Amino acid sequence: MMNEIFNGFASDNNATVHPRIMQALADANHGHCLSYGDDSFTEEALSLFKQLFGQDSEAFFVFNGTGANVLALQALTQPYHAIICADTAHICVDECGAPARSLIANPTKDGKLTIAHIEPHLHVLGVEHHSQPHAVSISQSTEMGTVYTVDEIREIAAVCHRHGLFLHVDGARIANAAVSLNVSLQEMIVKTGVDILSFGGTKNGMMFGEAVVILNPALAQTFKYIRKQGTQLASKMRFIAAQFIALLTDNLWLQNAQNANRMAQLLSHNAREMGITVTQPTQANSVFAVLPAEAIKKLQQESFFYMWNVANNEVRWVCSWDTTEEDVKQFTASLKFKVSGLKFEVSGLKFKVSSSKPETRNPKLETRNS
Ligand SMILES: Cc1ncc(COP(=O)(O)O)c(C=O)c1O
Repeated sequence: MMNEIFNGFASDNNATVHPRIMQALADANHGHCLSYGDDSFTEEALSLFKQLFGQDSEAFFVFNGTGANVLALQALTQPYHAIICADTAHICVDECGAPARSLIANPTKDGKLTIAHIEPHLHVLGVEHHSQPHAVSISQSTEMGTVYTVDEIREIAAVCHRHGLFLHVDGARIANAAVSLNVSLQEMIVKTGVDILSFGGTKNGMMFGEAVVILNPALAQTFKYIRKQGTQLASKMRFIAAQFIALLTDNLWLQNAQNANRMAQLLSHNAREMGITVTQPTQANSVFAVLPAEAIKKLQQESFFYMWNVANNEVRWVCSWDTTEEDVKQFTASLKFKVSGLKFEVSGLKFKVSSSKPETRNPKLETRNS
């Protein structure tokens, strides 16, 4: 449902398409050109990916993030292989089993895998009774709005390679991580030893389209067959390519992510100022917070967002390329009003929300809270 007053915080998938992307689609919509990627748009977009990731990299465009992950992991593994991931990983909880591999899901405090999570699973290597760990998949930024440092990625890649495993990065929000770390993709992805990356476009201002970027040249040769068999080869490829050209031109991909991250910082700051517990460090474009159940329902009626963890009333707010300061201000005002003056305790966590005057007046609630 569309919120008519201001942009919501449910998901960056709910956001609009950036006007420069819309323009690129319109501009590409003239005349016929060859299909399945044999067109000049695709050629240009692929060359932009080579500028970002180096001449040895190979990018392949796909329709969506699940497709990118599934194909990337298929390129790394056989059906008897297992993939080590965080238990919050999109491949684990949000892809309906599409990776079709054993997933070794690890609970983490912040969505980030560490070597301590990975190493204990490696003693089964060579034992025929066990699915063989053959890849590690990390999300950058994570589903918890946190970001791996360059060193953390390098360490994970080193452990993987020491034991014959590959490293996949789910970069549906890679731009938000790049902005957060203020490093190039060469530093974050290429030099750290990542083998394959799902590069996100849709959550960062595109209408649709993602890329699988192969950094390990040994994996590139057969990928085109994997993509076609996996139903992710677009016949009208020019329309994905044209969007990527616009996204990668003049750093639009970074500008979009910059805005989303900055708005998340603002929202996180405002929530904490009110005494609300923000449960994860806000390092990319998502904010996680615990609220009283009754406030959640009321806020959701005004501007829908998702529960993250029903057990402890934890919610997730996501900022997007098109989130404005006014959006944050309005949402903050609603938030303040809904939780103002409440004392509450959830799952052993104690909260006291400051009782400063609400900026938005809602007669019904005012009566009840007064
Ligand atoms: C971290 C992450 N990876 C992958 C995806 C999959 O994207 P799609 O919904 O386009 O398949 C999402 C979507 O929300 C995501 O959050």
